[in-house]
Parts: sequence; C-alpha cells; structure tokens
Amino acid sequence: MSKTPSLARRTKSFQASPTAALDAAAKRLAAEGHTVCNLASGEPDMEPVAAIREAAAKAAMGGYSKYTQVSGTLSLRQAVSRALLRDQGLSYQPDQIVVSAGAKQALFNAFSCLLDPDDEAILPAPYWVSYPEQIKLAGGRPVIVPADAAGGYKLTPEALSQALSPKSRLLVLNSPNNPSGAVYTDSELSALVEVALDHGLTIVSDEVYQQVLYPPARHVSPASLSAAAFSATVLISGVSKTYAMTGWRIGYLASPDPDLIRAAAALQSQTSGNPTAVAQRAAEVAWDLPPEATRHQLAAFTARRRLVLDALAEVTGTELVPPNGAFYGFLSIAGCLRRWREEAADAFCERLLAEDKVAVVPGSAFGAPDAIRFSFAVADDVLKEALVRLTQALRR
Ligand SMILES: Cc1ncc(COP(=O)(O)O)c(C=O)c1O
Repeated sequence: MSKTPSLARRTKSFQASPTAALDAAAKRLAAEGHTVCNLASGEPDMEPVAAIREAAAKAAMGGYSKYTQVSGTLSLRQAVSRALLRDQGLSYQPDQIVVSAGAKQALFNAFSCLLDPDDEAILPAPYWVSYPEQIKLAGGRPVIVPADAAGGYKLTPEALSQALSPKSRLLVLNSPNNPSGAVYTDSELSALVEVALDHGLTIVSDEVYQQVLYPPARHVSPASLSAAAFSATVLISGVSKTYAMTGWRIGYLASPDPDLIRAAAALQSQTSGNPTAVAQRAAEVAWDLPPEATRHQLAAFTARRRLVLDALAEVTGTELVPPNGAFYGFLSIAGCLRRWREEAADAFCERLLAEDKVAVVPGSAFGAPDAIRFSFAVADDVLKEALVRLTQALRR
C-alpha cells in the first residue's frame, strides 16, 4: 500500500516566490496559444554578449567539468575583486568573497549566518519578494518599515530609528531597488548608515542592480562610506541583471569579516557546494568586461523606461515614481482601487492576466498592496502592447 509522505511542520511556512508563480502562469497561457505579454519576471530579454557565451562554450568543451573550490575559483574571486575596485573603489580580497548560485543563495547564506532565533531584520518596504521569506527561513523576524511614494519609496533615518529594538540585528538595503527603482543618494545613505552603526547593526546591501542606472542617478554602496561602514556591510551582487545572465546562477557575498566568510562557505559546502563550474568561467569574463560592452542593454532599458513614463503619465488614479535604477515600473493604483472599492491590487492583477493576458505582479508580494510591478526588460513590441492593454484596463 502506498503512503503519501508526511511533511515536516516547517514546510507549512514555505511560500513559493509569487513572481516565479506568475511567470509560470503566463507561460502556461502562452502555451495554450494566447498572446501573453509577460511582464512578471525580472530578467533582461537580451542574450549575454558573445564573449561570455564563448567562454562558457570553451570551458564546457575544455573539460571544465569537475568540482571547484566551494566559494568559487580563485580566478573568479579575483575577477570579482577587480570589478569591485574598478566600479566602486572598494578593496575586497579574494578570500573575502564567497561566490554562490546567484545573489539569491548569497543572501540566504548571509541571513542564515547572521540571524539567531528571533533576531530582527529591518526591512524597508517595498522590498524584493525573497527577503522576508529568507529571513524567516533563517529563524529571524522581518520588521517591515513602509516607505511611501511621496518619499520616493525610501527609508528615512527617522523611520529606521523608530523600528529599532534591543533585538534589531541587521538592516537590509537594496539600492537600486526592486520593485520601486529607488536609488539612494550619498547623503541619504550616509544618514541611514549612521543610525545603523550607532546601533551596531549589520547592513546587508543588495546591489544586484548597481549598473542599471538612469542618469543622473549614481550608485553608492554603504561599504564605500567609511571604514566602519565597510566593516559593517555585507555586500551582495551578481551577474544576473548587469550581464543578462539570470539563468547562469552566479552571485556573491563580500565581507571583511573572516568569521562570516568561513560560516557562509561552510553552509554552502553542506548545501549546494560550488556554483556551476562552466558558469563561473563565463562570469569571470563578464566581470572583466569594460562598461561599454553592456551599454546597448542600458540604452534599451532607458528607451523602454521612457515608453513607460509616457504611457502612464495621464492615467487617473495611478502614480508612478520615475525609477532611477533597475527595470521595473512600480505603479501605485490606490486611486483606482478606491474607485473600484477594492482593498488590494491582487484582484486587478488576476483579471489583467485572465482577461487582457498581461502578467504583472501585485504589490502585496512586495509589501505594498495598492501597487503593481511590471518589468520593462522585455522586447519593445511586447512592452508597447502591454502598455496599451494595461492602460485600457486601468481606465475601464
Ligand atoms: C533585488 C534582488 N536581489 C537579488 C535577486 C536575485 O538575483 P540572482 O539571479 O543573482 O539570484 C534579484 C532577482 O530578481 C533581485 O531583484
């Protein structure tokens, strides 16, 4: 007699990523023959530049198929170290870097190594979907601090101070931000870092969109602000967004704290082991590319951002804070929800997919229930069609 497996209690708290679920739903509809505009998932539509793909092909054909060091090869970590120095003036040694299967795993390693049971992690909302779930999986407690459209969706030092408690352990910062596109200026970041340092917080700084910027926005890492900020920061980044390498799964954690590096490497050695060897070779080439190599990607995002801003400028009941970085439109539809007598954007997103065949993500996934997020890192014709359907649905 067959018996269904009984699951561990811990699985009750597992939430699948809503962006991945929506992406899958959109792909299902497309497979059924519908013309779907899929703006749910956050990945550049372009292919990585030829040099990156050639490096992977060469590695695959050249027998590069064995385990590597768990934290990534020395030459890859040297390439990360060079890129951090070149792009941000930050000096990390290769032994201060752990390369993982994407920034997602690097973040999970960081939360798992930093949070004791019931430690609080301060998380400004809107936030990237995986932070609260990963913090909870690590045994910590996310303390969500809302930031609104009027303030450009940015955490203020006052709000941060108010959220502090004796259990506060770390602050999560993500600039440029997914989903809002907010980019903190030097002085905004300095003010937050000062509060964090005064209270002995560790700063987990997710910088995966550091190169996806719309001038005059400029990327600043908290690690660059002072020697104390460098020590307190765990810097997370990866190749997914800058080099259009989402599927290659390479990201990293960098920190001058040898204990954290040892712990993250030990955790990874018992879970996934090294990131994929062939992808490591490709990422090494990516990180050594000059900025011009990916300028065409940024030019495409810049033009599409303009399309988004123009299309949504005049839609009553909505508000779009122009994104200064990343490639998402984060549209508050609070005015529309009041008109429709709805409490959250979830039902609108469901209808938009079912009736108009446009996949966007409800803001509830990001801790901002009266907004929707859509990616503009999609082909021009898909974006144009999606904007027509979306604006019609919002006006309906
Ligand atoms: C803010 C943020 N951090 C981390 C990640 C994960 O990136 P990776 O593909 O390197 O795991 C994403 C991906 O969407 C993201 O938006």
